[in-house]
Amino acid sequence: MKKFWVLSRRAGIGLNADGRISVRLMRILTSTGILKALGNNVFAHTALSLAYLDTPEVEFWDLCVDEIAPVAYKMPEYVATHQSDSIFNPKQSPFSWGNNAEGTTFYEFLLSHPDRLKRFNVAMTTQEAALPVLGMFPFTSLLETGGDSSRAFIVDVAGGRGQSLLQIKKEIEAAGGAMGKGRVILQDRKAVLDAVPDEQLPGVEKMVIDFFTPQPVKNAQIYYLRRIMHNWQDNEARKILKNIADAMAPDSRLLIGEMVVPDIPEGVDKTVYWMDLCMLIIGGKERSEKEFSDLLDSAGLKLIKIWRSKVGSQTVIECRLK
Ligand SMILES: C[S@@+](CC[C@H](N)C(=O)[O-])C[C@H]1O[C@@H](n2cnc3c(N)ncnc32)[C@H](O)[C@@H]1O
Repeated sequence: MKKFWVLSRRAGIGLNADGRISVRLMRILTSTGILKALGNNVFAHTALSLAYLDTPEVEFWDLCVDEIAPVAYKMPEYVATHQSDSIFNPKQSPFSWGNNAEGTTFYEFLLSHPDRLKRFNVAMTTQEAALPVLGMFPFTSLLETGGDSSRAFIVDVAGGRGQSLLQIKKEIEAAGGAMGKGRVILQDRKAVLDAVPDEQLPGVEKMVIDFFTPQPVKNAQIYYLRRIMHNWQDNEARKILKNIADAMAPDSRLLIGEMVVPDIPEGVDKTVYWMDLCMLIIGGKERSEKEFSDLLDSAGLKLIKIWRSKVGSQTVIECRLK
């Protein structure tokens, strides 16, 4: 619908100044309640159409429409042409198949398509309302633990453009603390980090990693892992977790920012189920509390507490070494 809306605006402005085409597009948008007809081919916004304006929040929606939906439409063909367990192999995901890229994972594919990688990373910075970073784990409570500049304070593993880390830093600094007690490290793939100017990350150290190889920062106070587990099936997720667990000290915390699938799919926020289907396409999955607990256990970790958001299914899962 966003594309349609943009098309309507372009038709009105450029392609068809007298409105013959745009009116035809406007009619369907009006009949579905997206726009309001004021009469004589004059149309007005509604709250629904305003949601489709070019705001940052729409970036994520665009991503789903452009990357996920075309593959979702072809799922019957995927199922007809694949073994039933192919979907558990991220190199044979519907996304890889639908992009003629079987043999590469979703992220490997993005790395070889810079424009799509850029759009993906921008979209990842725009979902704060539905998937908040703050308001769950009490980051400011870490101020009480005292400074220890000999160890990294926080390592945001695969933190993208630093969208979470900057919020956490701001919250701690607003409470009168300093992240300067130890290093503040943003880790990701080289192409992702290179695209973020250093001045946008004051006080943050960028570090290129591959989370399928040993974690280079040992003994950090916090390892933070947001929206990573749901990108992967259990085998890959376990490897990522084990690499972090091997680097952790007995008092290190691993904080996992993810939605937790409610036990009963009734009367709850639907975002988690919709996201789960998006993850099905790219080779991952959302998990229940029990699934997280089992996964963590198999990687040498234990679930200490799930800090839940007041809205939706977003959580921070606090873990320590077993
Ligand atoms: C869904 S995004 C999440 C970004 C960020 N943590 C957030 O919550 O906004 C997944 C991130 O994993 C990174 N990633 C994918 N494969 C990786 C790998 N092998 N090693 C390190 N990072 C990787 C991507 O570049 C991307 O930034």
